[in-house]
Amino acid sequence: MIIEPRMRGFICLTAHPEGCAQNVKNQIEYVKSKGKIEGAKKVLVIGASTGFGLASRITSAFGCDAATIGVFFEKEPSEGKTATPGYYNSAAFEVEAEKAGLYAKSINGDAFSNEIKQQTIDLIKKDLGQVDLVIYSLASPVRLHPTTGVLHRSTLKPIGDKFTNKTVDFHTGNVTEISIEPATQEDIDNTVVVMGGEDWSMWMKAMKEAGVLANNAMTVAYSYIGPEVTEAVYRKGTIGRAKDHLEATAFEITKQLEDIGAKAYVSVNKALVTQASSAIPVVPLYMSLLFKIMKKDGSHEGCIEQMQRLYSARLYNGSEIPVDEKGRIRIDDWEMRQQYQDEIAELWKSISTETLIENGDLEEYRQGFLNLFGFGFDAIDYKADTNEMVLVPSLK
Ligand code: NAI
Ligand code: NA
Repeated sequence: MIIEPRMRGFICLTAHPEGCAQNVKNQIEYVKSKGKIEGAKKVLVIGASTGFGLASRITSAFGCDAATIGVFFEKEPSEGKTATPGYYNSAAFEVEAEKAGLYAKSINGDAFSNEIKQQTIDLIKKDLGQVDLVIYSLASPVRLHPTTGVLHRSTLKPIGDKFTNKTVDFHTGNVTEISIEPATQEDIDNTVVVMGGEDWSMWMKAMKEAGVLANNAMTVAYSYIGPEVTEAVYRKGTIGRAKDHLEATAFEITKQLEDIGAKAYVSVNKALVTQASSAIPVVPLYMSLLFKIMKKDGSHEGCIEQMQRLYSARLYNGSEIPVDEKGRIRIDDWEMRQQYQDEIAELWKSISTETLIENGDLEEYRQGFLNLFGFGFDAIDYKADTNEMVLVPSLK
């Protein structure tokens, strides 16, 4: 079939298998160009199919020569209907790993469930014995709690006061004002259940009990802090409470794993175009200003540059892992440079549909968004007939 982008608000309903494969290949090439990393050899990535998780899997495999198991929740293709991009990404990843002689298998299902945890543990036992790195990179709007059976929904709301700020529709470039009513206590609690650290801790507990965590293993989850302009809706909002919980959970997991010398870390990453972040109000407008400034300064990074730097300069730098005063790894250090943040704060005051054209890089944002779904790659002929029935080899 001919596959074109079909947009519905923040999401694209279609994905291009060859374009997704191109995206994966580009990331692999980048990692290879940066040389080998003396790092993990057997890696589990939870949330491995898109965004930071995919980039972590690619860095593990093509930077560290690691065997990888990837867990994700994606829709497979059916005749005449494309899969979700993460499914095609994972298919392409496995094909490239196989070519490079690297073990790679995937599990497609709800990582919050006991069943998928058990299935993953069984696969590790059977094929790898133990893993020495677990990346926890889930981003989900809902979580079906495995013990209570309650379906929790996360929200992106301010806490305390109503929040009003500028936002952009990145498809049209229209800058408007958005107001969001403050969260209820229930909203806060639900968001913490979905995006906080409970599930991460459950994974680590189950893995330890099953004996599939190597001595001195490491586990890393991802967080975000960001600028003042998004603070009320992000770091001090419902999602921020979940991130506080996630960050606190790292210390609990480290305690829980003390006897095997394993450690849990949270890495604070840069704001990047992913399916999860494009749904957050105000954030895309901030990002379009940030990207322009960072590109001009030569410090702009995507998911793969971030994860390659996380592994090579933080996790496996040959000496101690540098952390901030709260024990967090910071790979958002370039984003948070004072000169960039000052410049953004200044531009923000007068940002409008008209001034955004000159002061922001909305094109970079749009391109990044299209790329998530396998669109916008020069090397791909989008007019050509494409087989939508591309399957993940280990899931066939
Ligand atoms: P993403 O949407 O690209 O990836 C989410 C991954 O989770 C996918 O592999 C998806 O299949 C998987 N997933 C979702 N629900 C699942 C379920 N129930 N079971 C199994 N797999 C499931 O997200 P992104 O942006 O890479 O986010 C990953 C983490 O990084 C999140 O914790 C996010 O808060 C954090 N982060 C994101 C930033 C950004 O700007 N995008 C910045 C800093 C941190
Ligand atoms: Na991810």
